[in-house]
Amino acid sequence: MTTSTPFDEAERRAWAGRAAAYERSFAALCARPVPALLDAAQIRRGLRVLDAGTGTGAAARAAGDRGAAVTAVDADPGMAARAAGAAPAAAVCVAALPRLPFADGCFGAVVGNFVLNHVGRPRAALAELRRVARPGARIALSIWAAPPAPGQALFGRALQAAGATRPAHLPALAPEDDFPRTEEGFARLLRESGLSGVRCEPLAWEHRVTAEQWWSGPAAGLASAGQILLSQPPEVVTEVRRQYDALCAEFAGPDGLLALPHTALLASGQA
Ligand SMILES: C[S@@+](CC[C@H](N)C(=O)[O-])C[C@H]1O[C@@H](n2cnc3c(N)ncnc32)[C@H](O)[C@@H]1O
Repeated sequence: MTTSTPFDEAERRAWAGRAAAYERSFAALCARPVPALLDAAQIRRGLRVLDAGTGTGAAARAAGDRGAAVTAVDADPGMAARAAGAAPAAAVCVAALPRLPFADGCFGAVVGNFVLNHVGRPRAALAELRRVARPGARIALSIWAAPPAPGQALFGRALQAAGATRPAHLPALAPEDDFPRTEEGFARLLRESGLSGVRCEPLAWEHRVTAEQWWSGPAAGLASAGQILLSQPPEVVTEVRRQYDALCAEFAGPDGLLALPHTALLASGQA
């Protein structure tokens, strides 16, 4: 069985060369669940921890700050380089789920912040995370909930209102690999992978950001909205921006910042 799917290949292309843009835009949003994620994995001094899909290293750095001995991996070399800078005490390498270059049972805890929603085979990725966790280790993972909270739906609405279409080179997850992005669906995924004591909770918050900064992520090609935007002709991009500016009014506060409601799911269990 090949480990890389068309979805994974599209992910590799989508992240390549975009680590700096991610750090300037979506990284602050994605960092929000990190303390809860580390609590769920019971990260503490001396524990050997894996941060899978580390991105620019927010969870790796925070786990290091708690005194853990951190290893971090990312499929994208640019991300791994930034994580190494952000978490200098961590051992960082390039590796892609569902295949990690580690022995069975070598980590005392495993975390993955918004990575399981970026892999082509979530069940295989989870099995691999479980393989490298020692028996009894906690595994904690976050994903975005679906349907998306209003703040997260903003770009999709702007794209739709502008008539932007999803390009063929952006494959969706194969239906047999997908799972419901609900508390129950995510918890079931972890339980079916053999984890015990599974818990899943929603994390809801308002991300506060300027309209310009929020636009900058997709404008740089980040996330599926960015990949769709990049493939549109210039006149459609202009129309998406017009629609986006109009929709931003729904979220603008008196200080001029957008307050964008987001909901993530945080699930954890024991290997
Ligand atoms: C949304 S970012 C999250 C990054 C980081 N965990 C954070 O919270 O900021 C998703 C990350 O997962 C990485 N990624 C995507 N597919 C992966 C895979 N199969 N294995 C490892 N990392 C992957 C991407 O390169 C990207 O850095």
